[in-house]
Amino acid sequence: MTRTHAIAVIPGDGIGPEVVREGLRVLERVAAVEGFAVRLTRYPFGAEHYLKTQEVLPDAAFDEIKGHDAILLGAIGDPRIAVGYLEFGIIARLRFGLDLFVNLRPVKLYAEHLCPLKDKRPEDVDFVVVRENTEDAYAGMYGHFKKGTPDEIATQEILFTRKGTERVVRYAFDLARRRAKGKKLTLVDKANAVRAMDLWTRVFEEVGREYPDIAREHAYIDAATMWCVKNPEWFDTVVTSNMFGDILTDLAAMIQGGLGVAASGNIHPGRVSLFEPIHGSAPKYAGKNVANPVATIMAVSMLLDYLGEARAATRIEETVAGLLRSKRIPSLSSDSGLSTSQVGDLVLAALEDAPVPR
Ligand code: IPM
Ligand code: MG
Repeated sequence: MTRTHAIAVIPGDGIGPEVVREGLRVLERVAAVEGFAVRLTRYPFGAEHYLKTQEVLPDAAFDEIKGHDAILLGAIGDPRIAVGYLEFGIIARLRFGLDLFVNLRPVKLYAEHLCPLKDKRPEDVDFVVVRENTEDAYAGMYGHFKKGTPDEIATQEILFTRKGTERVVRYAFDLARRRAKGKKLTLVDKANAVRAMDLWTRVFEEVGREYPDIAREHAYIDAATMWCVKNPEWFDTVVTSNMFGDILTDLAAMIQGGLGVAASGNIHPGRVSLFEPIHGSAPKYAGKNVANPVATIMAVSMLLDYLGEARAATRIEETVAGLLRSKRIPSLSSDSGLSTSQVGDLVLAALEDAPVPR
């Protein structure tokens, strides 16, 4: 019997539906080539749906989504709606509600000409950031006192739990062990100023003792942004807190060619996990068929890898890498000269010829 994967699809706002459309074409074709099946359930959540129905993400839909093997999400965010409202109601709800404690963000340069850094080649930009995904300032413990007055006080708690820190650090050590490259894990924090991060320092040290084969390194977040630009080859696997990971990975996306290629997985090993491009909904490009779908196609590759379809994942990755190296996809921005669907066509046409080890 063929393997079937149940996938919930939330195209979302702005360019989301267009890039997801191409991601799904690639998903269906690669399934046919590799001989497995996918069962897709589409969900309409996002700004349009909210404006029509006042629904953000109803409990019944949340429970149904939970019953899938994985989720593919396009983008959420719309200028007509209050900042953060849908982002928190949908993205954060799924991250927290499904306890997706790892935000996995590979940083890989596929073709030298895509890198804005001088003299950096694909072998210099190849690392992965493991961002904690359920704690920190994102836990949403904030408040205002005397709001709107000159004496207003605004607070937001940065919180870390022992359990939350330990599980993500352990995931990162395991990942460092599986990666072929450096067998090195770098902890990025700000323990010199955010003293609560002493918890990260201790957990990293303690868990690290169980992984004597993995070299441990450390960088403060400010220095890490400098290294990311100056010596990206220094990094192999990086583990960091939610907010620092958010910031570091936008910077890191630029050195791999931009947000047009950067994908991510929101993961709880063994449970339904969510995959998405790092970029946002880019409302100004919505509906024009100009947004580059490569990041979403790479998110599909990560999703398949997570579901155990390693060959299909590699097939997609190698296809995209080949098209970028040969400049048949000349750039990753919306002015590449290729439409969203043309990029999809190129990937579909090249999929079968991708070099995939048997
Ligand atoms: C990301 C985004 C989100 C985040 C926003 C949309 C809430 O920037 O996935 O990196 O901050 O996590
Ligand atoms: Mg971000």
